[in-house]
Amino acid sequence: MLPSYRNLYGIVSLCISVLIFTPVQAYEKLSDETLSSLPRPNSDFDIHNGALLSPILQTRVPGTPGSTAVLNHFADFFQTTLPKWNVEVHNSTSKTPKSKGKDVPFRNFIATRDPPWAQVGDVGRLTLVAHYDSKIEPEGFIGAIDSAAPCAMIMHAMRSIDAALDKKWTALQQQGLDEFVEEVEGIQVIFLDGEEAFAEWTDTDSLYGARALATHWEDQFYPATSEFKTPLSSISMFVLLDLLGAQSPSIMSYYETTHWAYQNLGELEKRFKSLKQFKATSKDPWFIDTEKDVHNLTPSGGVLDDHVPFLARGVEILHLIDFAPFKGFPKVWHTIDDDGEHLDMDTVEDWSMLVTAFAAEWMELEGYFDHPKAASARRDEEHAASEAIRLNKKTEL
Ligand SMILES: *[C@@H]1O[C@H](CO)[C@@H](O)[C@H](O)[C@H]1NC(C)=O
Repeated sequence: MLPSYRNLYGIVSLCISVLIFTPVQAYEKLSDETLSSLPRPNSDFDIHNGALLSPILQTRVPGTPGSTAVLNHFADFFQTTLPKWNVEVHNSTSKTPKSKGKDVPFRNFIATRDPPWAQVGDVGRLTLVAHYDSKIEPEGFIGAIDSAAPCAMIMHAMRSIDAALDKKWTALQQQGLDEFVEEVEGIQVIFLDGEEAFAEWTDTDSLYGARALATHWEDQFYPATSEFKTPLSSISMFVLLDLLGAQSPSIMSYYETTHWAYQNLGELEKRFKSLKQFKATSKDPWFIDTEKDVHNLTPSGGVLDDHVPFLARGVEILHLIDFAPFKGFPKVWHTIDDDGEHLDMDTVEDWSMLVTAFAAEWMELEGYFDHPKAASARRDEEHAASEAIRLNKKTEL
């Protein structure tokens, strides 16, 4: 990403927020019991031999064997741990300032899980995004915060909610409630390729994977009777994680229409801390704009990153990047020091808990987690009954 502000995007996002009435997105808070018993990644985030993170901590410049190895790691993970997810690779090619006229392949990894009754085109999706490519320079650059760690956080979050998703969807189907669900919501992961510039960051030397995918999805039409027109419009929110894994992050809120979701993350941060479920001990808030009113956000326009081609096409964006005007990017940004050893592992783990909890609240999974610690967990039948009441409230029958 580029450490500069572009007022153009501030103007664009202002217009969007004036013109479009934010749709009401279902969102249900997790109980303290659930928050306190969500699984932690523990040794799976070990930087030397952890199952999730360590395979990503290698150079992975687009089109190189390192990139293929990491892509295979994602594919293996979903195949073995999350077999109900639908996985695809979106391919494109482009020349780069360093490719001497040759085409470089860019491969975006996409994994999706929809409710079993959902028709293609009728399901909106919470979309969690990080880039997996690493910068070509300096030689040997690993990019641990940029963005190996964010990829691992998303992987941990998805495996942590998968069984609860199953349980909820099965319960709804068994109760015959699936047909009353008005907003059919699935979930999607995108690991983008080619975020980094090969030479100097320009509009054409950066965001290779994101630009190709946004264009492709904009032109791919669902059947005319579908709820959504294209895969692009079926993105309920594009949550981009980048430059995360340094101690004491500062995350700004950039977009009025997604400030409510940002504030939910801020609240989750507070709750995790007060429940003593965060390992990182810094008292400074991560979500520094949580108390701000939606109309008083700093009109910076944001940081250029993978969301830009999607933002330009009207997709709702939540950009989680460790950046603030008073401190810039994390110290190791774009240096050879951005490696596994420089990650603050407590913070990396805590992030994965936050992403888990946010996705669980978005997918409304309270009551569907098995937690041995919590005696007060609602039983399945009780839960199905309360779900029925909730659905009735939302549905005009
Ligand atoms: C992308 O390329 C890979 C081979 O590198 C292939 O297996 C895959 O099917 C391609 N994806 C699509 C959507 O065509």
